[in-house]
Amino acid sequence: MSVPEELTELERRLSGFCSIGQAMARAPAAAAVRGWVHRSRSSNKVAFLVVRDASDIIQCVVKQESHPELFELAKDLPIESSVMLSGPVREEKRAPSGYEMSVEQLVVVHRADVFPIAKDQSPEFLLDQRHLWLRSRKLVAVLRVRHTVLGAMHRFFRERDFHEFSPPIFTPNACEGGATLFKVKYFDDTVYLTQSWQLYAEAAIFALERIYCVSPTFRAEQSKTSRHLAEFWMHEMESAWLDLDGCAGIAKEELRFIVREVLEKNRKDLDVLGRDVARLRPAAEKDIPTITYTEALRLLREAGMDVEWGKDLRTVEEEKLMERFDTPVVVTEYPKEAMAFYKPVKKDGAAPGPVALCFDILAPEGYGEIVGGSQRDLDIEALKQHLQQEGEKPETYEWYFDTRRYGSVPHAGYGMGVERVIAWLCGLDNIKDAIPFPRTMLRSRP
Ligand code: 4AD
Ligand code: MG
Repeated sequence: MSVPEELTELERRLSGFCSIGQAMARAPAAAAVRGWVHRSRSSNKVAFLVVRDASDIIQCVVKQESHPELFELAKDLPIESSVMLSGPVREEKRAPSGYEMSVEQLVVVHRADVFPIAKDQSPEFLLDQRHLWLRSRKLVAVLRVRHTVLGAMHRFFRERDFHEFSPPIFTPNACEGGATLFKVKYFDDTVYLTQSWQLYAEAAIFALERIYCVSPTFRAEQSKTSRHLAEFWMHEMESAWLDLDGCAGIAKEELRFIVREVLEKNRKDLDVLGRDVARLRPAAEKDIPTITYTEALRLLREAGMDVEWGKDLRTVEEEKLMERFDTPVVVTEYPKEAMAFYKPVKKDGAAPGPVALCFDILAPEGYGEIVGGSQRDLDIEALKQHLQQEGEKPETYEWYFDTRRYGSVPHAGYGMGVERVIAWLCGLDNIKDAIPFPRTMLRSRP
């Protein structure tokens, strides 16, 4: 095969092949690429193979006249066959990605069986075939955005002097209420899959002060909504010496950072997904507003929706509220009654009832809650009382109360749903497409 002139070190190790993206960037020039047949069609004179790799797609033309033996190979090549090809690449406005290779060499590495996925399959069928559907342009684009989002989460905190901290996955305690715990047989004992790193993070700030993680999280959600997974990734942070405002401030800054990174690095992927980037730009450019829960109820009332003070906001109400905003919004000070045991009551609040020093961030366009965070209650008696109200056994939290016994400090943290953020950024209809192999109440395979 002909070898492109400029070889990166990686290409050299990959023996002369470059990615399709690189081949197009260097055009007009000869290139050798390898990948899978994404589409194919032919007349009795030319075969068009649209070939894809991890970077992009390119139209490759094999002419009967100039390469009769290659034409025979290419003309009825099934989609998803793996191939190596080389030849000159040049701009071609009519080709799907704007470039075309005139094939001079073609090797069929594997002639694929008939691919089970054709056009217009039902979402359930595609989920059954997820191991194959992963190769679709849509999922590849989402996976690339996901890669940017995860990288941005790490970079944001590492650049700000936070340490990455790894929490356990098996845990003896509920953090977000017993109703959504997955029970696991653990030798002769029973434990649960983690719902949040938080209780362990609160112990670890005494060692590292400022920490973050991106970690698998499990919730036995009984809801079949487009926002809930049973296994998802949560990106969490916890910091000593931090209050509610400081904590929400970091979350806002981080969200803006993530959106900017994706807009900068994934423009092509967002195009493949049909995402209107103008809808994301406000989140990259404008300040994220903060309102209280009580103010949110007032805005809802103005919009003709009455919510009784004290009730958690339902999906329809969040959607209605967010019609007013083109950026995410921080909603603080929810009624304590509906909140997890560790969220402290705000003293001297002006609201109609006791509120907690907590916040959620809601995404625009109906994507709902993407972040939940709070200051942490330091009062052991209050913690015990709220645990009891939630039906938990405070004795099993003795180790956690130790974090309030030896040099207790004000602290706060939040959790960001990785897939919720990706679903919003990519404009997905369902959170299931934000994770490679979704697990929900109704699906645990393939
Ligand atoms: O609001 P949550 O339940 O907060 C906590 O777990 C805190 N302990 C976090 C912390 O302070 N360290 O969950 C945080 C976020 C939600 O805002 C949502 O984005 C996401 O996690 N999330 C889910 N994502 C997908 N599927 C589910 N079932 C989810 N449940 C929560
Ligand atoms: Mg929440």
